Amino acid sequence: MSGRSFVVTSGKGGVGKTTTTANLGCALAGLGHTVVVVDADIGLRNLDLVLGLEKRIVYDLVDVAEGRCQPRQALIKDKRVDGLFLLPAAQTKDKEAIDEGQMKTIVRWLAANFDVVLVDCPAGIEHGFRNAVAGADEAIVVTTPEVSAIRDADRILGMLGSRRARLIVNRVRPEMVKTGDMLSVDDVADILGREVLGTVPDDEEIIDTTNRGEPVALDKERRLAKTYATMARRMCGEAVELPSHEDGIWGRLRRLIGSKA
Ligand SMILES: Nc1ncnc2c1ncn2[C@@H]1O[C@H](COP(=O)(O)OP(=O)(O)O)[C@@H](O)[C@H]1O
Ligand SMILES: [Mg+2]
Repeated sequence: MSGRSFVVTSGKGGVGKTTTTANLGCALAGLGHTVVVVDADIGLRNLDLVLGLEKRIVYDLVDVAEGRCQPRQALIKDKRVDGLFLLPAAQTKDKEAIDEGQMKTIVRWLAANFDVVLVDCPAGIEHGFRNAVAGADEAIVVTTPEVSAIRDADRILGMLGSRRARLIVNRVRPEMVKTGDMLSVDDVADILGREVLGTVPDDEEIIDTTNRGEPVALDKERRLAKTYATMARRMCGEAVELPSHEDGIWGRLRRLIGSKA
């Protein structure tokens, strides 16, 4: 049976796509799945750093596309968690070194050989976006609860065709939501009209672990690791409830009165 392929996208840069891809990859592998995370940000590779695997790169996505190596030769196995592999981006200046057809072929091959493929999308809606989306059957749209990020997420949702797309609301600050200075997760979901796969608080631990190349999701005892594990379970179809602490007053009120409106 073929595995599932997801693109992790957003439109706007800097909202947390790469962080999300790395942590979801770790969390899914931690649940026992075989996972390949693909860095589709050609020329601006990042996922290798966030995963702390940059020193082990030999071949990359462009090498695979151009037949200089077999897909398996370009995969870097993460030694910290069983079942997690990285397909790194090339650092070439030519962002158009790969086309949609090549990307589709690569992601299809990966999905045929692994349980889950996560494609980390570059910012924007240009060539790199179309490539990253090409081979993915489903989408995870990352946004922060800010108007500019939500607007870009809305635009991206319109470009994903018939793919199932779910949201991750990143960098939520519950105290700001409480005071009405930040949109709640429910507000974001209402505006975008999509299901929320998960929410991640704004937390310095994410920045710290990212800088060290040790995604927080690797350490299963950490609170944030559990946040990513919940999302990973929901991706796999488990009926795990979202933690409710990120919601604003309206979200809590809705739940109290049992309304979905
Ligand atoms: N939940 C979070 N809390 C705090 N910092 C975060 C969070 N998510 C991402 N960041 C930080 O935001 C920056 C951009 O994240 P990144 O994943 O590279 O975004 P993108 O891939 O969308 O450009 C990084 O410095 C990262 O550590
Ligand atoms: Mg990125």
